[in-house]
Amino acid sequence: MTTTLSGELTETLLAAARTAAQNAYIPYSAFPVGAAILTEDGSIVSGCNVEIASYGLTVCAERNAVFSAVAAGHKQVRAVAVSAPLAPGTTPCGACRQVLNEFKPVDADLVVILDEKAGPRFTTIAALLPDAFGPVDIDRAEEERRRSG
Ligand code: THU
Repeated sequence: MTTTLSGELTETLLAAARTAAQNAYIPYSAFPVGAAILTEDGSIVSGCNVEIASYGLTVCAERNAVFSAVAAGHKQVRAVAVSAPLAPGTTPCGACRQVLNEFKPVDADLVVILDEKAGPRFTTIAALLPDAFGPVDIDRAEEERRRSG
């Protein structure tokens, strides 16, 4: 299973994530984050964190990127690059890991690229969220209802 991308694609995704971070709306935390998603067909969709005065309504960069990709018609995420310029190497929060897991490709892991000071660090959603609950569990329940009902 491939868990890295070409150097060129990696740089393109990281550049998109860094650009998105410049648009972060962060009046409360001053912690900018940008994310860029590579979809199944090679499209790149980015997002930044958006904070709200009622703090709990804040949405992370990764989730904003995923939701924009879904709104544009994409349902599989091959890779996501995350850039937090003031805290290099920042990884997606737990909620974003769950959301990313929802859209991982059926036949591959979802590659996560972290913008470290020393260069890109590759990991995967399976590594960041082991034993994940996901769509397959909903399918299993449906299967069980059909079988027993
Ligand atoms: N944040 C993200 O956007 N992505 C992450 O991976 C970590 C946290 C945001 C949420 C909030 O706006 C700020 O960073 C500080 O938590």
